[in-house]
Amino acid sequence: MKDILLTKLRRQETPCEEFRAATLELAELLAADAAQCIPSKRTRVTTPLSSAAGVVPVGRVVLVAILRAGLSLLPAFMKLFPGSPIGIFGIRRDEVTKEPHLYYENIPALLPDDHIFLLDPMIATAGSVILALEHLGVHISPSQITVVGVLAATPGMQKLKHRFPVVRTLVAAEDPELDSRAFIVPGLGDFGDRFFGTD
Ligand code: PRP
Ligand code: URA
Repeated sequence: MKDILLTKLRRQETPCEEFRAATLELAELLAADAAQCIPSKRTRVTTPLSSAAGVVPVGRVVLVAILRAGLSLLPAFMKLFPGSPIGIFGIRRDEVTKEPHLYYENIPALLPDDHIFLLDPMIATAGSVILALEHLGVHISPSQITVVGVLAATPGMQKLKHRFPVVRTLVAAEDPELDSRAFIVPGLGDFGDRFFGTD
């Protein structure tokens, strides 16, 4: 199913309305996968008849979205983790240098057992997620963070793994290349413009 939705996102004729719908649906599948990354511990519960082994989550889930495109993944994650605190990074990639610039940061106070889902649909050079991880790393171990995206590029994934080896990543697909503008190839174009209708 993820492949079908991603194919809709990749197709250049897909209009904004369908692009949004496919993103929201894909985000629900990614959120379900992400739920498997939450640390848990063994427990026993009493059933009406006896007792059974089980697991319970350890700590809170905290959602952190990178503006603007990361907002597209938030509704699905809010549905699955309704009580989670939400943090926001405003990060924009300079079109000439491709360097990310942080223009806004509002992260809730983090607790030692928190697990963070860092949401950004596109990991191209990985500059944006690395900048966000550097700021989050002041408060929490990278081992407690999962980066969730729609599409990544291999060069960006390699850079991310090198800089933060213990950060987990969850993406629907990985493409091999970046072009001269640091766009993912074959990719899906400018995610933010297509999702927000600013193309
Ligand atoms: C895009 C995208 C990612 C970033 C990925 O954001 O949404 O955040 O680029 O590129 P990187 O891995 O090379 O850093 P953009 O800066 O275009 O802003 P937007 O989300 O507001 O459209
Ligand atoms: N941001 C996008 O939206 N698309 C890319 O291919 C790279 C960065």
